[in-house]
Amino acid sequence: MKTNMSYENIIIRNENSVAIINLDRPKSLNALNSELIDELDRAFDELAVDPEVRVVVITGEKNFAAGADITNMVELSPDEARSFAFTPTFNKIANFPKPVIAAIEGFALGGGMELALCCDIRIAAPGAKMGFPEINLGIFPGAGGTQRLPRLIGASKAKKLIFTGSMVEGEAALELGLVDSLADNPLEEAVKLAGKLAGKAPIALKLAKECINSAGDVDLQTGTKIEAISWSGLFATVDQREGMRAFIEKRKAVFVGK
Ligand code: HXC
Repeated sequence: MKTNMSYENIIIRNENSVAIINLDRPKSLNALNSELIDELDRAFDELAVDPEVRVVVITGEKNFAAGADITNMVELSPDEARSFAFTPTFNKIANFPKPVIAAIEGFALGGGMELALCCDIRIAAPGAKMGFPEINLGIFPGAGGTQRLPRLIGASKAKKLIFTGSMVEGEAALELGLVDSLADNPLEEAVKLAGKLAGKAPIALKLAKECINSAGDVDLQTGTKIEAISWSGLFATVDQREGMRAFIEKRKAVFVGK
């Protein structure tokens, strides 16, 4: 991984092709301010083209993120609120060409939970507290939450969470589909899963993600066309030949991302 990245609100380390991004504003429970979001934006641009990084994990020590920084929002005008929006960065993360996993401890609220929703997979500690308390501030989730949450868990369950502003944790979050699994040490689990994904064929992962992401946006005919084009395109990759030859030769495939 390149070493020229300098950040003040996030910390990035690379372990065996997995980049781990730690949100790092512990005094405010990792509340997301514009500087942090700008740094995330820049980091994802760099990680996208870093050949040494195959999977990204986002986490926060003790807390994932207790939402957007409220102290930055109180006096915003509508125009300023529009520029404060995290949506371009969150869309970038949702469409990132490599898998992204959220490891959630403590609070993941509001914009923090919206960030987790942009990840491909969410692993939470049983005691992690997740929800969308914006309604108690006189607003509603504005960084993709009203769009991604219903697509993930269904409209009425999303409405209940967003209308009440209540938090869920543990088995309740799992049952809702808000998280994919629970683990006492979610970061360790996320890194383990990321390690597995780092050994898979990167282009196949990237295109599978694109196809699955488009499933929520397009009709079935269009979706299956997108799938057919992406899938057949894989037969131009070195990794497709390698994967199938390795199977026939009864050895483990080594994928190079070409
Ligand atoms: C700014 C925050 C913050 C936030 C916590 N802090 N959340 N500061 N923005 N979102 C700060 C507190 O002010 C406090 O600072 C310190 O972190 C510790 O928090 P406490 O409240 O003392 O901790 P606790 O009593 O354990 O309560 C934790 C909590 C509570 C339940 C998470 O902090 C809380 O309700 N936070 C706000 C959650 C929220 O409404 N999130 C949604 C934001 S709107 P001091 O200096 O007093 O120690 C949003 C919009 C997204 O996310 C769209 C964006 C475009």
